[in-house]
Amino acid sequence: MAGELSPIDKAKFVAAKRAAQYVEDGMRVGLGTGSTAAWLVRCLGEMVRDDGLRIKGVPTSSRTAELARAVGIEVISLDEAKWLDLTIDGADEFDGDLNLIKGGGGALLQEKIVATASDQMVVIADVGKEVETLGAFPLPVEVIPFGWQTTQALIEETLISMDVLGRRSTLRMSGDVPYITDEGNHILDLHMNRIGNARQLALVVNQMPGVVENGLFIDICDAVVIGYGDGRVEVRDINDGTVATERLDFVEADNLFSDLSD
Ligand code: 5RP
Repeated sequence: MAGELSPIDKAKFVAAKRAAQYVEDGMRVGLGTGSTAAWLVRCLGEMVRDDGLRIKGVPTSSRTAELARAVGIEVISLDEAKWLDLTIDGADEFDGDLNLIKGGGGALLQEKIVATASDQMVVIADVGKEVETLGAFPLPVEVIPFGWQTTQALIEETLISMDVLGRRSTLRMSGDVPYITDEGNHILDLHMNRIGNARQLALVVNQMPGVVENGLFIDICDAVVIGYGDGRVEVRDINDGTVATERLDFVEADNLFSDLSD
């Protein structure tokens, strides 16, 4: 079955499979959102079912909660967990310092809260997510619906004085209607092309009234597991300063590949 996956899905799968090795019996684990994180949830479900792994999962979206329950992972809320041993999540971009852009899947708010409440955050990504400088991917910013156009104008005006290459923003849509997050908010995507000072931008954007959170994850990620379409994985740990490469085999149970939707 795995042989039928596209190279990018193979890359996501091997990254998720390798990152699942971080998960130990008894852990409270933050479960990310997106297509790569969905592979992780399926891998963990298999470990729960076949190896008797006992974990409690804190999902970062209603989608992930549904998938986690479906594959047999015990789901608890962050308030029940209070603190997590580990969060594993995808990313839209990561740079050499393992700073991230997240929120392409619209779950950045819960993702940031959960990752920040974890001893360790591990990002899983295909190699295409690595960038020298963040910003080619539009930065998602979650805003409350009240006065969102005023918030948008304020953000665009503020970007004039920031080290960025563009300041156009668009309201995220779901078909013909504005996208609504799990918290009932909207998302503005900021098309900046290049973010010269991500740390500063993250602070400034979050100070604006109407902004709930932005998708820049600065100094939150501890390690990234990068997957390649040929089965190679590279593990970079920012704390240890280590880089290790290995190859994983695609020998998996059919049911892991039976539902490829995120
Ligand atoms: C969701 C996210 C995702 O982690 C990010 O969009 C990457 O998704 P994918 O693994 O599908 O490429 O931040 O809000």
